[in-house]
Amino acid sequence: MSQYQIAVLVGSLRQDSINRKLANAFNTLAPSDFSFKQLPIGGLPHYNEDEENDPPESVQRLKQDVAESQGLIFVTPEYNRSIPGVLKNAIDHGSRPAGQNVWAGKPAAIIGASDAPIGTVLAQQHLRNILAYLDVPTMSRPDAMIHVPSGFFDEAGNFTNSDSRKFMLNWMDEFVFWVKSHNR
Ligand code: FNR
Repeated sequence: MSQYQIAVLVGSLRQDSINRKLANAFNTLAPSDFSFKQLPIGGLPHYNEDEENDPPESVQRLKQDVAESQGLIFVTPEYNRSIPGVLKNAIDHGSRPAGQNVWAGKPAAIIGASDAPIGTVLAQQHLRNILAYLDVPTMSRPDAMIHVPSGFFDEAGNFTNSDSRKFMLNWMDEFVFWVKSHNR
């Protein structure tokens, strides 16, 4: 097993999601001691405080996967100038019951893909606020608002543009450093 297991939360459930395509490429960017596990959040029930002390298996699995990880990556589209509800729901589940916030202390990074050049800026900023409250040390640089026009990925999911791959390699290098410096 890799030394550093990274829990990846993708904020889109869409079959052809560009954010999921971006997340799928992480393995091609990182060193071999890093592995990435996309956590299924689409099937989580709506968070309900009445049920938080007896959560269903899907919630327990989410919390266990996060607890066992050495870092987090949030890959999110922007929905109406914020993060998608499905992602906020997963974050709320992981933050409770009070005193059992599973996110706390996990080194994290945020990245977002959009078909518009400035897309995801506000979603990412909202997410930073949430993660700050949850005591998650979140990498602040480099910013990663990824503009994904058609043809950005080839059929196999590789970056077609060498500058984009170079940017992503540097972003991943910074994330690797961030994770290692928080897991000493
Ligand atoms: C969007 N989209 C969008 N884009 C943006 O830059 N700012 C926004 O506020 C919104 N709002 C928004 C709301 C809703 C409900 C949808 C469905 C879409 C466009 C969005 O960024 C685009 O559809 C991305 O391709 C979605 O990401 P995935 O699903 O491809 O990963």
